Amino acid sequence: MGKFTVLNHPLIQHKLTIIRRKETSSNEFRRIVGEIGGLMTYEITRDLPLKDVEIETPIGKTTQKEIAGKKLTIVPILRAGIGMLNGVMEMIPSAKVGVIGMYRDEETLTPHEYFCKMPKDVAERECLVVDPMLATGGSANMAIGALKKRGVKVIKLAVLVAAPEGVKAIQKENPDVDIYAAAEDEKLLPNGYITPGLGDAGDRLFGTK
Ligand code: URA
Repeated sequence: MGKFTVLNHPLIQHKLTIIRRKETSSNEFRRIVGEIGGLMTYEITRDLPLKDVEIETPIGKTTQKEIAGKKLTIVPILRAGIGMLNGVMEMIPSAKVGVIGMYRDEETLTPHEYFCKMPKDVAERECLVVDPMLATGGSANMAIGALKKRGVKVIKLAVLVAAPEGVKAIQKENPDVDIYAAAEDEKLLPNGYITPGLGDAGDRLFGTK
């Protein structure tokens, strides 16, 4: 079964508390979602393999390290996943971005894919799917399925707030995917919101409430 890791670094916890507050403005919410995305990326990439490279400094030749192996694709799930993208890209500027669009049927709460644009060589890349909220797990499972259909073999999922129900759903349908969250909350409410959560992440990011 895939690992579920809560990245509870003090900076991440502090910033998450700010965005949970209902009085936090969209402006601040957006900035901090990006920052948490960056801090999470720092932790998630901790075990990236390194290789030796020979370089020349202004003083002389030396052997140093650089990241080896497969390149990354960041996959934000539209639309709230876009909020995490800048922060993640600041940590890994050479990553490519594959966008996947999902909307949730407000009555049945089931996700539907309406857009998918991946880099051509996505099958040779490791993918980091990003979405602030892991609620039922329906959208994330669908996004992971879309990547697997395109031949992607290594997939990780990064969310800010995870509901236990969502974690279970991913572990059941995609047991090979490691999940990273800034927090695991109490539960999913019948209306699809996570409690205590932070409300509708997309609306808060884009000021569309
Ligand atoms: N999506 C959100 O934006 N918030 C929730 O609490 C659950 C799903």
